[in-house]
Amino acid sequence: MRVSGAKNAALPIMCAALLTEQPLALTNVPRLMDVRTMAKLLGQMGVSVGAQADDKLEIPATTLSNPEAPYELVKTMRATVMVLGPLLARCGRARVSLPGGCAIGSRPVDQHLKGLRAMGATISVEHGYMHARTERLRGTRIVMDLVTVTGTENLMMAATLAEGTTVLENAAREPEIVDLAKCLATMGARIEGAGSDVIRIEGVRALSGARHRVMPDRIETGTFLAAAAAAGGRIRLTGVAADSLEATLEKLREAGARISAKEGLLEIEMTDRPASVSLRTAPYPGFATDMQAQFMALAAVARGTAMITETVFDNRFQHALELQRLGANIAIRGDTAVVKGVERLQGAKVMATDLRASAGLVIAGLVAQGETVVDRIYHLDRGYEALEKKLFTLGARIERVK
Ligand code: EPZ
Repeated sequence: MRVSGAKNAALPIMCAALLTEQPLALTNVPRLMDVRTMAKLLGQMGVSVGAQADDKLEIPATTLSNPEAPYELVKTMRATVMVLGPLLARCGRARVSLPGGCAIGSRPVDQHLKGLRAMGATISVEHGYMHARTERLRGTRIVMDLVTVTGTENLMMAATLAEGTTVLENAAREPEIVDLAKCLATMGARIEGAGSDVIRIEGVRALSGARHRVMPDRIETGTFLAAAAAAGGRIRLTGVAADSLEATLEKLREAGARISAKEGLLEIEMTDRPASVSLRTAPYPGFATDMQAQFMALAAVARGTAMITETVFDNRFQHALELQRLGANIAIRGDTAVVKGVERLQGAKVMATDLRASAGLVIAGLVAQGETVVDRIYHLDRGYEALEKKLFTLGARIERVK
């Protein structure tokens, strides 16, 4: 089965198109609700985003008549906050709604604002909107108080057109940041250190258009591997970047899976009942928080007890309550879930609460006795391209019910 391009690389890269008047031609763009939402947001700024043809998308941000991100769109997808840096850098002004609450935890954007203010922007927050202005951003040294992925991406993009050099310290190191930096460099940006915790960006006067192939989705890859580890069997994934999910592969091997990786290809085989694996989520290269729910589903049917500690978000265990409805034995102790594996889960009706929680529930449904019905799958469609069709090709008995 072929994995799609990465949602969490495609979204910031679409925002990067705002940094130039010339078109950005993207390939390997996943067909997702979130990509459509971002295209809609760019559209209402005056950017005529071409229709997505298969995995191709062209974004010509020739003119930006309305550098604004309205609440109606921002509330549906927090990643829209990443237009703030590019709009400020390109237009010198932006009006962007504050993202508001989120199912997986309190997710403030203080680090985004701190960095842009340090670069000389004036930002006021009124009536739920961030109003930002600048003559021209100035390069400076910014030490992030904590590791934030979209914070790093927002500031890195803003710094590409700033006067002078910006140094981002305690930056996030996710592979999606490296993919964004690669695209920006093709547009003429001067960036060093993406993928490390210190990124240097030497500002330039203007950027140009470019062609870029979005990296493979490491979370989609990990989701299919976790499904195979829970259900047993042997699958091969193509179009992958195995080096972008090392921590996940290590935990799958610990669970007893045999994994082989070759250029662009990953194969997993699981013949026995998985062994319980404890884990602690952390910023990259640590274990991805976006894989936590899928591994909780795996732990629910594993032999032994797993301790799953969530350190990135403060409310990302809602799937545990739904897994309990399927007969899982899970106790939540603060930021740790104690999961005692059971022989067999029983199918039942469950409800998705967020994107990755829904993936965890689908995996649990694959191994539960009888039928499981996962409701509110609009969460799933935000980040997985035709998940049920892909699983069906791998032997799952799964269908989407209108
Ligand atoms: C990105 O979100 C991803 N989204 C998330 O994936 C992912 O879970 C997360 O990084 C962590 O890996 C995209 O890339 C579009 P953070 P982001 O800023 O950037 C706190 C998925 O399922 N924080 O790295 O929003 C924050 O509250 C999604 O695909 C501040 O306090 O996450 C959190 O506890 C879900 N102030 C922690 O930092 C800030 O200014 C890490 O958040 C920014 C963040």
